[in-house]
Amino acid sequence: MLTPRRTAIRAAACLLTGAAIGILLARTAAGSAAHPTQAATLVVGQQLFAADCAICHGPAGDGAGGAPRLDTGLESFPSEAALAAFIHRNMPATAPGSLSTNQAHAIATYLWLLNHSSR
Ligand code: HEC
Repeated sequence: MLTPRRTAIRAAACLLTGAAIGILLARTAAGSAAHPTQAATLVVGQQLFAADCAICHGPAGDGAGGAPRLDTGLESFPSEAALAAFIHRNMPATAPGSLSTNQAHAIATYLWLLNHSSR
């Protein structure tokens, strides 16, 4: 099913996501909120997102898979905790409740930063 072209696009998207994480982490560090635990959580969140969410929400959360984009527009969630709770209860749409609280929290941390970093 995966054509070489699609594979190349996926690979490029992964690289882009990696670069985005690097930028996010650099910003976090520059903002003096640098914390090794947060950095680790972000990496875990990004990896979980790629594995469980990207197929519907796009590799960079840009909505490429047909589901709503998540890289912006999550203002409807009052807090990162509320977003984590939503994810834990409802996502992935095909298997709601399959993520642990920690996994949902890590993904929420990743998406929250994605939404709240100035671009
Ligand atoms: C099978 C496809 C699918 C997968 C996989 C999936 N989602 Fe979704 N997601 C949707 C659809 C469709 C919606 C919009 C309808 C809804 O809110 O239920 C949605 C909505 C959302 C929303 C609400 C967006 C908003 O603006 O209100 C969030 C947050 C979200 N998903 C996060 C995730 C996360 C995190 C994962 C991975 C753990 C994930 N989704 C996996 C299909 C999917």
